[in-house]
Amino acid sequence: MSVYLGIDIGTSGTKTLVARPEGTVLATATAEHPSYFPQPGWSEQDPEDWWRSTVQSVQAALAKAGVSGREVKGIGLSGQMHGSVFVDKSNTVLRRALLWNDQRTEAECHEIEDRAGGREALIRLVSNPAFTGFTAPKILWVRKHEPGIYERTHKILLPKDYIRLRLTGGYFTEVSDASGTLLLDVQQRRWSDTLLSKLDISRDLLPECRESEEVTGQVTAAAAGELGVPAGTPVVGGAGDQAASAVGNGIVRPGILSATMGTSGVIFAHSEEPQTHPQGKVHTMCHAVRGKWHMMGVVLSAGGSLQWFRNQFAHAEADLARLRQVDPYDLILAEAAQVPPGAEGLFFLPYLTGERHPHPDPEARGAWIGLTVRHGWKHLARAVVEGATFAMRDCLEVMRGLGITAEQIRLSGGGARSPFWRELQADIYGQKVALINAQEGPAYGVALLAMVGVGEYNSVPEACSAIRVTEEIHPREELRRQYDRIYAQYARFYDALQKEFRGIAALAR
Ligand code: XUL
Repeated sequence: MSVYLGIDIGTSGTKTLVARPEGTVLATATAEHPSYFPQPGWSEQDPEDWWRSTVQSVQAALAKAGVSGREVKGIGLSGQMHGSVFVDKSNTVLRRALLWNDQRTEAECHEIEDRAGGREALIRLVSNPAFTGFTAPKILWVRKHEPGIYERTHKILLPKDYIRLRLTGGYFTEVSDASGTLLLDVQQRRWSDTLLSKLDISRDLLPECRESEEVTGQVTAAAAGELGVPAGTPVVGGAGDQAASAVGNGIVRPGILSATMGTSGVIFAHSEEPQTHPQGKVHTMCHAVRGKWHMMGVVLSAGGSLQWFRNQFAHAEADLARLRQVDPYDLILAEAAQVPPGAEGLFFLPYLTGERHPHPDPEARGAWIGLTVRHGWKHLARAVVEGATFAMRDCLEVMRGLGITAEQIRLSGGGARSPFWRELQADIYGQKVALINAQEGPAYGVALLAMVGVGEYNSVPEACSAIRVTEEIHPREELRRQYDRIYAQYARFYDALQKEFRGIAALAR
């Protein structure tokens, strides 16, 4: 029997998935790894912990699947994007990795825009503006604040590409994850020598960049011994977690979008051309499909807003849920469902951790707006769910403005589990949404990429052909019209409050 492994180095842990070539998932296993927050806004992890959780999850997944490691024919890697691992010539990690949600690099983002000749010039070079979480500003930060480490740095790697180094001994990345470094010429799918020279970063510090399904090396004898898979097993490029998840959801041709409501919320669209938004109101990156691109809108606290609401305001529901052995979110959503659309004039802005799209603003803040004495707990809950969904629609509207049409929006993440939230998404997005038969996310996507790399399939779309729609949910016409009006009001709040957010942030410093 042949099996393929998809390994996803996530923020809370590493998940390994074992799949058969026709796409059946035999098992998954996750091993956690810790995060470190040495100062407010800083977020780091130890790459050695990633290796440990990789080894543990591979061994556990193979055991659960009941297959011998000898059956593994290929490995695909996925991971949290934008992180940076600094290694020296002997591949020793020089400091903890700075993660995608690290906020220390605001000054470096301004420096990058200045050196590039302004935000729009930067977008022309690398298709995206500078965000604090991206890799390039972190490189500038380490160069400025830890020059001793920078001098000893031989390579700078993304999280999954450090695991590739441990697996194969090679320095490689691939186009989808490299797009989030801010150093890739996304249009040409190769490092931007122009930006590298403006930032004075040597090209030699970066790994070689390949297409996502290309084989980048083979498992070494040493790694094979630790993992329990054969030495020589091919490892393909893989993908950043969002592109990997899109492959796992079958978002590999025009007209099919996904809406993933996790802690963050992501609207993801396949694109045949490398089209950019002139002000960078959504990301444009290389897709994990050869010669294709994608656009992506990221809402930082989508499901995260409801998680915050649960933690702060739903203690009774959490206790009841424990007693009845049900999910506390189901109880909260059932209460929210009793309130009419628009929560009787109550709105929630979900900018609890600032925002990325379409308002790139670390100082944006959350709010309930429109409170009256009539409003109670259920209204607060409904407004939070609607606010998170309106923020997703904001991203969708930017894409619609660029001419991206969606014949179908595939739902995944927590927002896809509740029938109430599924219907709400159809009504608020104003179009048909769908559920699919695959819910394993990035690890599944890169297992499919490994199958393509090894020759089980001729292309990524062909490998995705087993992914099917299991249910379609149509918007209810009356509610769609009502939500259009409510959303129009929501969409005006950010601009009206932007200046005030600055003031609030200054007061809190
Ligand atoms: C994508 C992004 C996150 C991270 C962590 O741009 O910031 O999805 O990859 O999951």
